Amino acid sequence: MIIAVDGPAASGKGTLSKRVAVHYALAYLDTGSLYRAVARDTVIAGGDPRDEDAAVAAAEKIDPDTLEDPGLRARGVGEAASIVAAHAKVRTALLAYQRSFAKQPAGAVIDGRDIGTVICPDATVKLFVTATPEERAHRRYLQLIDGGVQVTEDEVLADIRRRDERDQGREAAPLLKADDAHLLDTTNLSIDAAFKAAIDVIDAALGRT
Ligand code: DC
Repeated sequence: MIIAVDGPAASGKGTLSKRVAVHYALAYLDTGSLYRAVARDTVIAGGDPRDEDAAVAAAEKIDPDTLEDPGLRARGVGEAASIVAAHAKVRTALLAYQRSFAKQPAGAVIDGRDIGTVICPDATVKLFVTATPEERAHRRYLQLIDGGVQVTEDEVLADIRRRDERDQGREAAPLLKADDAHLLDTTNLSIDAAFKAAIDVIDAALGRT
């Protein structure tokens, strides 16, 4: 069983996906961390995220054991990840790892931008998790402040809008709701309410209700 979860930056899809994975005892892959790791490794190697060849070199050497690195969650890394993710060859270099993760016998929850459209078009259930840019900025702002980062809510909103524009506007596998994905708008939902709504959709799709 594959559950594909897509959505824009700070939509809450990561938190939701982790809980869904625990609930159904499935493995979990945050594909954003792959692009974040490519951005990190490109910069460490002295390259520029805008340079496709430099980013591809990093993508080809990606080490899955480094995907939990807390440094990947830094504000600048998300921005650089969105830049490397627009290179078609970077996406191709990361395809095999994602597809092989999806094949594990236990089944998996995989979240990202193109899981339902490109990586796992035959996923058992597809969710498209979204919220207004203002609500996403507010949540991300609270997280950043909590982590001691000095930032204003307006700056976070500008980051989010820029990321949305780049992730939706690129030619290579843009962020897009698959036709058969279930839309889950979490703007007015708590984490618990969003989780319950997701379980309801998944159970219904699996014929478990
Ligand atoms: O989900 P996230 O914010 O950690 O993702 C970081 C960036 O990586 C995001 O701005 C776009 C890119 N990304 C992507 O293009 N495709 C994916 N499947 C996952 C992330």
